[in-house]
Amino acid sequence: MGKFVISCIFVWCLVAGIECQKSFSSLSCQGPRNPKIVGGSQAGKNELPYIVSLTRRGGHFCGASILNERWLLTAGHCVCNGLNNLMKPAQIQGVIGLHSISDYLNGIQSRNFQPSQIQFRTIVTHPGYDCSHVKNDIALLEVTRPITFNEQIKPTCLSVDIDGRNFEDDYATVSGWGWTNENQGNGDRADILQKATVQIWNNDICERSYQTNGKRSNFIAETQMCAGFVNGGIDSCWADSGGPLVTKDNLLVGVVSTGIGCARPGLPGIYTRVSKYIGWMEQVMSR
Ligand code: ARG
Repeated sequence: MGKFVISCIFVWCLVAGIECQKSFSSLSCQGPRNPKIVGGSQAGKNELPYIVSLTRRGGHFCGASILNERWLLTAGHCVCNGLNNLMKPAQIQGVIGLHSISDYLNGIQSRNFQPSQIQFRTIVTHPGYDCSHVKNDIALLEVTRPITFNEQIKPTCLSVDIDGRNFEDDYATVSGWGWTNENQGNGDRADILQKATVQIWNNDICERSYQTNGKRSNFIAETQMCAGFVNGGIDSCWADSGGPLVTKDNLLVGVVSTGIGCARPGLPGIYTRVSKYIGWMEQVMSR
C-alpha cells in the first residue's frame, strides 16, 4: 500500500524547465487553461473542480482543495474552534462539486451537476501550527470514503519549491464562498462560487507595505505569500480561508490565510505558500 501511494506521488518537469509541478493523484490534475471574494465574479460551473466548501452544522465556514481521492488541503485556522482547540473530524463536513449553496440546500440539482457531502476521518495540522498564531497556517483533512472524480470533482496540481521560483508578479486566481465586502452591511456571503484575479507580491515589499499601512509589527515569513493590488479593491475575505490561490497554469500556490480587513489599499491578502509544505504533505499522506 505504502509503495502504491508513493508511486502515485510524482513530480514532473518539462524539459524547458518552465513548468514544474506536483500531483498527489494518479488522475491528471491539469484543468483547462483559463485565464465572495471582494471585487470578483462568478466562477463557471466546472471551472474550479478542486474547490471544497467546509461546513459546520450545515453552514459554510471555509474553503479547501482536493489533493487526491483521500486528502484535502485547507488552512490550519479553519480547523480551530473558538477556544483555540482543534476541532474533531466529526464536527465538520465538506461539500464537493458545489456551485450555488442555496441550490444545494434547496435540493435543486441539474442533471449533470450534483454536489455531494463528504465526512472526515482525520485532521492533521502542520506540527509548527498552533491555533493562536498564523505561522504554518496549513492542515490536511482525510476523508472517510475515497472521493470519486468526474467533470465537476477533480484534484489540483501543486507548485513545488525549486529554482527559487517565488511567483512574484504572476497573476493568480483566488476563489471561495466568503464575504463580498469586509463590512457585512455592504456585502454578504457569496451564494455562487466567486473568483478573482490577484497579483502575487514580492515578500519584502509586502512586509514593508503592511508595516506602513497596517501594524509596524507585521511580518511576512518566507512560508507566506501576499497577493492583491496596491490600490486594493480585489481580495479574498472572511470565510474564503483555506481556499485555493491558483496560477494561470493551474498550480495551487497559496492557501487563503489572513490579512487586515479585505481589499484595503496596501494590505494584500496573505496566503500560506504551498510549495514550502510539499515534503510535509508527502510525509503525512504516505503514512
Ligand atoms: N482569515 C480569514 C478567514 O477566516 C481570511 C482572511 C483573508 N483576508 C484577506 N484580506 N485576504 O476566512
